[in-house]
Formats: sequence, structure tokens, C-alpha cells
Amino acid sequence: MRDLLITGAALADGTTGDVGVRDGVFVAAGDVRDPERIDADGLLVLPGLVDPHTHLREPGREETETVATGTAAAARGGFTAVHAMANLDPVTDTAEAAEYLAALAARTASAEVVVVGSVTKGLGGEQLSEMGLMHASAAGVRMFSDDGRCVMDPLVMRRALTYAKTFDAVIAQHAQDTRLAGTGACCHESEISGRLGLPGWPAQAESTIIARDVELAELAGGRLHVCHVSTAEGVEVIRWAKRRGIAVTAEVTPHHLYLGTREVEGYDTTFKVNPPLRTDEHIEAVRGALADGTIDMVGTDHAPHAREDKDHPFDIALPGMIGLEQALGVVVETMVDTGRLDWPTLVERMSSAPARLTRSATQGRPIALGEPANLVLVDASARSVVDRDASASKSRNNPYHGRDLPDPVVATVWAGRVTHRR
Ligand code: NCD
Ligand code: ZN
Repeated sequence: MRDLLITGAALADGTTGDVGVRDGVFVAAGDVRDPERIDADGLLVLPGLVDPHTHLREPGREETETVATGTAAAARGGFTAVHAMANLDPVTDTAEAAEYLAALAARTASAEVVVVGSVTKGLGGEQLSEMGLMHASAAGVRMFSDDGRCVMDPLVMRRALTYAKTFDAVIAQHAQDTRLAGTGACCHESEISGRLGLPGWPAQAESTIIARDVELAELAGGRLHVCHVSTAEGVEVIRWAKRRGIAVTAEVTPHHLYLGTREVEGYDTTFKVNPPLRTDEHIEAVRGALADGTIDMVGTDHAPHAREDKDHPFDIALPGMIGLEQALGVVVETMVDTGRLDWPTLVERMSSAPARLTRSATQGRPIALGEPANLVLVDASARSVVDRDASASKSRNNPYHGRDLPDPVVATVWAGRVTHRR
């Protein structure tokens, strides 16, 4: 691996200097030998981004994404680590499945793959998975989630939180009460859903599960993470729980910061996602919560799907949209360029906080001598029109296609290796 010399970049706090990389760690600029040079005049150098919520479709649906293509998309988006959700085929619910994914990543990934185990066997919602064995395995699993499905049974959720606590793992919940929505619910319950004739999810399908789960986290003394918070009510419950000292963290997706219910008016199933895109008052609430820290981090919920799974009536198409490559641009557009987030806080929300979720020793670290060389070079003023066909992902369900957005990622370095360079 060749040494690197990055010249002229500014850190998030505004200080400027040259950055050397040798054997995967940051060294003084004078200590590199025959380096690959990157002229970063006018650019920012930030710690590599960490995604707490990524769907790589390998094993199971390799025609829509693989570990190689998903992490290539991550590298293009400035990410040096992704948490790989367990809703694979087979589900990541055993030590063998977790180790298989970790070994696959070691061979093919362009970013660190943090393996997430499922909470219940086969995502069935009933019997706990082999959580302890997954944790003790070579994959060292520290996060468990049935994401894609909500853990509905409160006793199962309580037991998962209690068990996970014994090895300091976190339970990540997809908070969406299926019993509060009619069959075929596929968009936010609102005036728009009524007009379009689409069965809706009320905001309370999310917030009532979050309310139950923060209470269970307090009872069990375990760590709860709330995936993709999308409602003002959900934010209020989390705010209350944090005031009370409950160990809860939360994420918001780029698409819930930027896109709204009105996108579904054309019945374009690209915009079908769980939880659904919400109305302006909710968008305002999640933006405010990400700014004030009630929502700790951004999670992409990058969810690749094949065209044949999206080419259906809206209520039947599979939910989910991709987002790794545009995540930083959308956060810059909605949070930085609007004055709601400064760069040091963005680093906290997109790198440090998600790295702490699974107690990473190598990710979310500062750009400093001796630290692992994970970084993203950012041009804060670059913009471009998104082209879904210019993606490293295998899937094309990109909700930003055709939009003019910040295009900040110039280069990504993971463990000293250049994984993306524009
Ligand atoms: C995700 C998927 O496709 O795996 N879909 C989605 O709508 N977000 C699952 C999930 O994150 O719930
Ligand atoms: Zn989910």
C-alpha cells in the first residue's frame, strides 16, 4: 500500500495543514516516502463517514447489491464503514451466518462492514436469535436488529434488551406497528393518502412503539437504538426519554430530511419506503432534532431493489430506496447550507456517533497522528445533477435522480487505502 500525502486540506474546525498516511495510520507529512499526492487546497478533510443502517443484499439478492457493490457505493459517498442489516437470505441469525458475512467482507469490501445480527430467528419475531454466539464469534456482533420488521412482542423486546446488555450490545428497532395500519399501508396517513386512495401509516404507528421501547430499555437497563425516526411525535418521545436518562439513540435518514409525502403523488414506487415519507411538519421536526442532538446520527437505510420488485402498483411494490452516494450531499443541502449544522457537528452525527453505537476502536476517530487513516475529502461548494445510472450500486431505485444537489465527496480513504477518488 502506497503512502499518501494530502496537502492543503482544512480540518472541520478550520485549521489547515498537510496530512500524511503510512501503513494505514496518520503520520506527519514529513514521514511519508514516495507518496501518492492529493492536492486538497480548498477542501475539507473529515473523518470517514459511518453508516449505522445499510442493506447489502448478499447473501440472497446479489442481483440487486453485493458486499462489493454496496461498499463501493459507500466509498463514493464518503463512508469508511457500514452496518450491514440482518434481513438477508439466509438471515444473519447465527454465528455461522455472521462469520460468513464478515469473511465475505474481508475479501470483497471497500469499507468496513460491521455485521448486524437479527434479534429473532428468521426475523420471525418470536424466538431470540443466537445473539450471544454471534457476539462471541469472529464477527464480534454488537448490534442486533430485525429491521425491515418491527419486533412487535414486548416480552421478546424486553428479553432482547436484557440479554444484549450482558455484552454491551445495542438493539436497533424498526419502530412501525403493523397493527395500527390497514393491510397494504404504503404511505403517510394524511390528506394526500386519502386523495390518492393509498392506505396510510399514521405517525402514531411509529411513536407508540418508540414509547413502549424506551420504557422497556429503562426496565431492562439495555441500550436501544431507534432506526429511521420520521415523525414529530417520535422525536418528542425520544426527547422525553433522553431527559429521563434512558440509554436511547436515534437516527434519521437523508430521505426523511429532504423528501416529503407529496413525492408519492405520481405513484412512482421509487418513493415507497418504510417508514413512509412524511409531511412538512415532520420534516421540520426531524431536522430540528438532528440539529439539537435529540436524533444522534444519520443512517442511510440504503435499500437496493430490483426493477421487477418496484414495477408494481404502489401498495404491492417493495419499500426502500438507495442513498449511500447522496447521503452527505442531502445532509449538506438540508442541514449545513441552511445554517442548522456546522461541520464539527456534522462529523459527530455522521461519523463519531454511529461509530460509538458499536464501540468501534477504528472508526469515528479524529484526524490526528497515530489514528487509523479513515477520511473523506469534501468540496463544500460542489453541486451536480444526480444521475441514477452513474452509481456504483447495482440498483437504480434512487429517489434523487434528476435533482440538483451538493456533490461534496472528492475522495475517500479507508484504513490508508484510497477507496474512491473523483
Ligand atoms: C428496507 C429494505 O428494503 O430492506 N426497506 C425500507 O423500506 N426501508 C427495510 C427497512 O429498513 O425497513
Ligand atoms: Zn427499517
